[in-house]
Amino acid sequence: MSDDNPLYPCSMVIFGATGNLSTIKLLPALYHLEEAKRLPENLTFIAFARRQWGQEEWRAFMENALRDKLKEHFSEELFARFAARFSYLRGELHDLDAYRRLVEELGKPKSGACSNIVFYLAIKPAEFASVIKNLSEVGLNRPRGLHRVVVEKPFGQDIESAQLLNKLMHDHFDEEQIFRIDHYLGKETVQNLLVFRFANTLIEPLWNRNFIDHVQITVAEDVGIGTRADYYDKAGAMRDMLQNHLMQLLTVVAMEPPPVLEADALRDEKVKVLRSIRPITKRAVHAHAFRAQYTAGSIHGVPVPGYQDEPGVEKNSVTETFVAAKFYIDNWRWRGVPFYLRTGKRMAKAMSMIAIRFRHPPQQLFRETPLESVDPNWILLSIQPAESMHMELHVKQPGLGMNTRVIQLNASYRRSHEVPLDAYETLLLDVIEGDRTLFIRFDEVEWSWRVVDPIIKYWEQERDFIHTYAAGAWGLHEANRLFDSEDQEWRNEL
Ligand code: BG6
Repeated sequence: MSDDNPLYPCSMVIFGATGNLSTIKLLPALYHLEEAKRLPENLTFIAFARRQWGQEEWRAFMENALRDKLKEHFSEELFARFAARFSYLRGELHDLDAYRRLVEELGKPKSGACSNIVFYLAIKPAEFASVIKNLSEVGLNRPRGLHRVVVEKPFGQDIESAQLLNKLMHDHFDEEQIFRIDHYLGKETVQNLLVFRFANTLIEPLWNRNFIDHVQITVAEDVGIGTRADYYDKAGAMRDMLQNHLMQLLTVVAMEPPPVLEADALRDEKVKVLRSIRPITKRAVHAHAFRAQYTAGSIHGVPVPGYQDEPGVEKNSVTETFVAAKFYIDNWRWRGVPFYLRTGKRMAKAMSMIAIRFRHPPQQLFRETPLESVDPNWILLSIQPAESMHMELHVKQPGLGMNTRVIQLNASYRRSHEVPLDAYETLLLDVIEGDRTLFIRFDEVEWSWRVVDPIIKYWEQERDFIHTYAAGAWGLHEANRLFDSEDQEWRNEL
């Protein structure tokens, strides 16, 4: 990649470089960008972390992390090139002196007179404020408009804290400098959904309340909370996943076509969807939302502990590890169509999918034949593990009698030689190139909190009970109470 573009950064500072997000997602994604020759030649990285390390220890740590993740795809030669871009800076996030050393490091000849820097906050939300203030204190927020700051969800704990965080960020950085990441927007199927909807005249006329019965969005994980109890026990599935990742998926399914494919035009349409979601009153929470927590069970035949036995989780915690919710979008396109969202940890398998069920045909032409009771058509957009699209249709089985079978039109779009990208590769490249289309604007965050806040507040008052499910299950039967009609049920398979 050429370095001539003055808008490309010449340095990226990763705060929390030794943490979970950095080792599992950021370093492998950057390594892949190096491999694809998409990193600007002069781009250097500064790994900012607490550990009392020198350059060698950092390099060994990074090598281990990458070997672990990439297995046989790890290349010594490539790693040498990649590692040469890094320097390690030891520092506490709240310690102003560390930021003074950062200024010096950024001024070193290796990075030249760096005019455009990315600050990646791969740290706990509770630590955002110190970093933002300290960067500003040492002048690293200037020149405004050039340096970029990347923050990860969740943006706040509820609407008030999100607004406070936003104000703090705007006190020190301009909106154009802020990249709020929701990595689900970087996933291939999610981007492909825009193409599927808006580049196919076949689909768009059907995409509304006249033809669609309901929409299901599932993000099921088989993993537990690992070592993240400190964060997760205060967040729960609603804040960790539904308020951001699942709501973003909902907006992309439901939005109107934007006038142009530009960041703000797209985000305007997403905000309109969020603003049209029918508010959930306190009395309606029970009918619209369901939460549960996993107990001990087994995943793929291996016994796993219950949530309350995970290290660091408070005994008697009522934090939800599973959440299901129903929303209505009260606009011309969607009025009356329920959107069912669910997500959970330690579920039967890892599977994320958008499933769209169409209405029954208006005429019962096949009454008294086996066709009478068949399931209507579905469109299934699988996000992971497979990236694929399927359309289910009924056809007559050849032979005597009116028997039918369901066939799936498979519109899977990855060819066998095409390597899947991690969402972070796409998004990190966008940060480097300054493209904000797949990043979240604050009004999206705010409206999304407005939707889920009444549920969260209601649950906060119910501190003594939570439903449970055994790890390895698909959730619980009780979650079915959200369905509007008896012929609706969760779709767990493609
Ligand atoms: C993160 C959540 O944002 O997304 C995690 O904090 C979750 O709890 C993860 O496991 C899921 O992402 P992916 O890309 O693995 O589906």
